[in-house]
Amino acid sequence: MPLASAKGMLETAAKEGWAVGQFNINNLEWTKAVLLTANELKSPVILGVSEGAGKYMCGYKTVSAMASAMVESLNIKVPVVLHLDHGSYEAAKACISAGFSSIMFDGSHLPFDENIEKTKELVSICAEKGISLEAEVGSIGGEEDGVVGMGEVADPEECRKIAELGVTMLAAGIGNIHGKYPANWKGLDFSTLERIHAATGSIPLVLHGGTGIPADMIRKAIALGVSKINVNTECQLAFQAATRAYIESGKDLEGKGFDPRKLLAPGVAAIQQTVKDKMELFGSIGKA
Ligand code: 13P
Repeated sequence: MPLASAKGMLETAAKEGWAVGQFNINNLEWTKAVLLTANELKSPVILGVSEGAGKYMCGYKTVSAMASAMVESLNIKVPVVLHLDHGSYEAAKACISAGFSSIMFDGSHLPFDENIEKTKELVSICAEKGISLEAEVGSIGGEEDGVVGMGEVADPEECRKIAELGVTMLAAGIGNIHGKYPANWKGLDFSTLERIHAATGSIPLVLHGGTGIPADMIRKAIALGVSKINVNTECQLAFQAATRAYIESGKDLEGKGFDPRKLLAPGVAAIQQTVKDKMELFGSIGKA
């Protein structure tokens, strides 16, 4: 099955009141873990690739070739989207030519008019190629791959203007933060989310910073128009904890416990469990 656009699955999710998870990938094991879990649970899935992760995995062409080949060789039957996460204009173009099926152009840090202009140009390129496009208004707080956002809350009027350009989905800051939430975090700003949803009509909204948001807030966000939720740090923490436990219990010193396929297995299983928990919470199981 070729890589899919996110358009159809997100429109269905928005209509039916559930959300598709975007899980950021870092290497072959990560990608395999997410794909196998999605397939087993019959859930559509979005593989997120940040610019930093793309560079780490030897460039967008390598990532695209790996994802496509893995979908085929693992006989994955659910729709899989390969999505650039927080891309610059240049990265967006590079991923389009590398075979990605979905792009996020993050122009939230640019002057608003420039965000509009560049998003507009990408809307027509993506439409021609059947690629889904995510835009952003109001940067997400925290730090991801060196991209630091101040955690603004988006302006619903700016959201309306970007949504009207014809983007597939829209990320809008509502107090969400990448990485772990600080103890004094005030929670998601639902009144802004309601106003953004009212201003943008039926366009699927994207919630970044999915790590550590309490389940009741996730459910409420979905009810208020969120149809795509991004999770990155939580898989990394699960992988780290399981790998640490393997080493600390001395398993790497027993027999062939040093074999990378054994050494990485507990971390992979932990990623799979995290992805499963999120898919359950997002309501995407059985929707593929
Ligand atoms: P977390 O790392 O907080 O889960 O955020 C992921 C994200 O929003 C990717 O764009």
